Amino acid sequence: MSGFFREGNALMCDGVPLEDVARTHGTPVYVYSAESVRRAYRSLDEAFGAHPHRIHYALKANSSLAIVRLLRSLGSGVDANSIGEIELAMRAGFSPVDIVFTGVGKSPDEIDRAVQLGLKAINAESAGELDRIDRAARAHGVRARVAVRVNPDIDAGTHPHVSTGLHINKFGVPLEHARALYHKMSDQPGLEPVGIHVHLGSQIVTLEPMQRAAATVVKMVQELRQAGVTLDHIDVGGGLGISYDGSRVPSAAEYARSILSVLGPSGLSIAMEPGRFLVGASAALLARVVDLKDGAAGHHFAVLDAGMTELIRPALYGSFHRIEAVTPRQARELCYDIVGPICESSDAFGEARKLPALEVGDLLAILDAGAYGSAMASNYNRHSLPAEVMIDGGEARLTRRRQTLDDQLSLEIGG
Ligand code: LLP
Repeated sequence: MSGFFREGNALMCDGVPLEDVARTHGTPVYVYSAESVRRAYRSLDEAFGAHPHRIHYALKANSSLAIVRLLRSLGSGVDANSIGEIELAMRAGFSPVDIVFTGVGKSPDEIDRAVQLGLKAINAESAGELDRIDRAARAHGVRARVAVRVNPDIDAGTHPHVSTGLHINKFGVPLEHARALYHKMSDQPGLEPVGIHVHLGSQIVTLEPMQRAAATVVKMVQELRQAGVTLDHIDVGGGLGISYDGSRVPSAAEYARSILSVLGPSGLSIAMEPGRFLVGASAALLARVVDLKDGAAGHHFAVLDAGMTELIRPALYGSFHRIEAVTPRQARELCYDIVGPICESSDAFGEARKLPALEVGDLLAILDAGAYGSAMASNYNRHSLPAEVMIDGGEARLTRRRQTLDDQLSLEIGG
């Protein structure tokens, strides 16, 4: 899916040399391949074929406006996790019916706004939240479309920090409670049950748990139907993983086949909330080597001008990202620990990576950084958020300028 390939010795993004992008826009910089996002979106959309479905891109993966607008142009809806993401989606041109709102701990203001907007569905996380949505909707004289997020207690085999479908996780309500909540809604005039939601976690690379979760919600939908509660969609959440290290992962077609084999017969439309699958492979983070040093035990450190402030995944989850020299030197390979400039030992991108001998000033690309890269960046150590560039049709377009210290300080009062 990625748009990053070598032409001769040079790493390019869809025909544009990454050295040129770094020279023009400086480093660190995120470079996106618009074509990679299009390919991923289409592969998923086509995989579900004629079965009624809607892709709701999970904004949390990357809510840079250029990415969000690109997905809108492809026909995507969105999954928002906060009022900030809802408002951003509206500014990017989405309508309330394009938006599902998922997330633990929705504040009173968020509920109020979501109810007033009339979203496609508020995916409710608890009995108390449903009561609050009901009250807010009645206060505004409307009915809020809701889905209950069920927690099926299924292990999707993901990193514990991104598992959401186990009973020990804070997400959703146990199956046995969900049934009662749907029945109670007949006495809650502010609520219109329209769907059921399940999301097991992120970077899932085996289909069986997702298929089992889908089967669980189908069973519940059938039971509810017999009891007179009819829903119109099943929201299967996100979570489909990508290959960070070249190992085989399920394709969109395989994912769709496994979901459709259990959901197809229900006749309900499918909503899904992929984030990483759509944008993960679409970006590289470019950074320059600012120092090279040798540790005591023969360790070579390559220190970059980007760190956990620009891409926190390796520090936070021990995630693997491929790291390549943009223009490798004709030199013998050395084994480097690739680290950032932040004063934390967890600020490292990769250990013992073999790269042709580096020199200070060399440009490296950290690949598959499109999901949860820019979106999780921070100003720690007063790093400014990096610039972002989108490559489309052979052109490099600056889509977000680099943050300045003045931008940061503009929020501070009395300075
Ligand atoms: N829907 C819900 C309700 C979610 O909580 C998430 C992700 C998604 C959809 C999208 O999941 P995806 O398709 O992207 O796997 N920062 C972590 C990932 C956190 C995922 C949070 N929820 C990482 O960098 O791996």
